[in-house]
Amino acid sequence: MISFKDVTKGYGNENALKDLSLTINSGELFVLVGPSGSGKTTLLKMVNRLISPTSGRVFIDDDDVASVDVQDLRRHTGYVLQTGALFPNMTVEQNASVQLEALG
Ligand SMILES: Nc1ncnc2c1ncn2[C@@H]1O[C@H](COP(=O)(O)OP(=O)(O)OP(=O)(O)O)[C@@H](O)[C@H]1O
Ligand SMILES: [Mg+2]
Repeated sequence: MISFKDVTKGYGNENALKDLSLTINSGELFVLVGPSGSGKTTLLKMVNRLISPTSGRVFIDDDDVASVDVQDLRRHTGYVLQTGALFPNMTVEQNASVQLEALG
């Protein structure tokens, strides 16, 4: 389970995200859709702390990601970038699984 609790991310005087709460259950296939600039990447990058919220908290199961070891967190997170750094001979699933396969 991944939960966002009252997450806000500000850049200067603008909020990319404001008071967002959302829970994605284990095993759920979840698709986040929105126009360019609506904050999708900002939200995604909070899961493995590539971006930290200005306020609010992000949980994986019962663990607040802010209080777990960041290297361990990222080793256990499959993350496929929007452009570049993809293996073009592999499917989306295979690309997303590279890190998890390495962990066995
Ligand atoms: N490092 C930054 N500094 C300032 N503003 C930023 C920064 N990163 C993102 N933003 C702003 O935050 C908002 C959300 O950006 P984000 O990249 O999360 O959108 P997105 O939904 O992923 O867009 P796209 O569909 O184009 O990938 C945008 O207004 C963007 O300009
Ligand atoms: Mg994006």
